[in-house]
Amino acid sequence: MFSIERPEDWWEVEALYDLCFAPGREALSSYRLRDGVAPVRDLCLVARDDTAAVGGAIRYWPVRVGKAGVLLLGPVAVHPTRQGEGLGALLIQESLERAADLGHARIMLVGDAPYYRRFGFRRLDGVVMPPPTNPERVLGLALRKNAWAGVKGQVQRASDLAQ
Ligand SMILES: CC(C)(COP(=O)(O)OP(=O)(O)OC[C@H]1O[C@@H](n2cnc3c(N)ncnc32)[C@H](O)[C@@H]1OP(=O)(O)O)[C@@H](O)C(=O)NCCC(=O)NCCS
Repeated sequence: MFSIERPEDWWEVEALYDLCFAPGREALSSYRLRDGVAPVRDLCLVARDDTAAVGGAIRYWPVRVGKAGVLLLGPVAVHPTRQGEGLGALLIQESLERAADLGHARIMLVGDAPYYRRFGFRRLDGVVMPPPTNPERVLGLALRKNAWAGVKGQVQRASDLAQ
C-alpha cells in the first residue's frame, strides 16, 4: 500500500500538498528548515490506490535542536476524496515505526495537537521554531525513553552549523 517516494513521484506529491494546504504553504516557517536540505528518503511514503492515483503522502526532514538531531514530520496530507478513512493515521504510524526501526530518537512537527495527540505527540516546551509559529502547535514524540530530556532551543536547519 505504501512505497518509499521515488524522484519521479515528487511533483505528484507536490500537487497533492498544493491541493490540501492553503495557498502559500511554502511561506510557512517550517519550509525554511527544509530549504536546500534533502528529505529523509526512507521515511517519505506515498500511498497509491487501485487506480495508481496518490491518495496520501508524508515526508520528513532532518533538523537540529541545539546539538540534537531531530526528525521534522511533514508535510502529511490525504486527498480530500480519501480523508477520514484512516489513511493519514496509517501513513503516520507506518513512518513512525520505520523511524524507530532506523534508530531515530525523536520527532517533532508543527500541527494540530487534537489530531496528533493520538499518536503520542505532546507540546514541546522550550523548542522554538522560526517565527511566526504558534508555540501551542510545536509538538514532539520520543521514540526512545527520555529522548527529549534536555533538548531545548531554536530549531535549525540540519545543514546549519549548531550555534
Ligand atoms: C490531517 C490529515 C492528514 C488527516 O488524514 P485523514 O486520513 O483524513 O485522517 P484519519 O482518517 O487518519 O483521521 C480522521 C480523524 O482525524 C480528525 N482530524 C483530521 N484533521 C484534524 C485536525 N486538524 N484536528 C483535529 N482532528 C482532525 C478527523 O476529525 C477524524 O476524527 P474521527 O476519527 O474522530 O472521526 C488530512 O485530513 C489532510 O490531508 N488534511 C489537510 C492537510 C493537513 O492539514 N495536513 C496536516 C498538517 S498539520
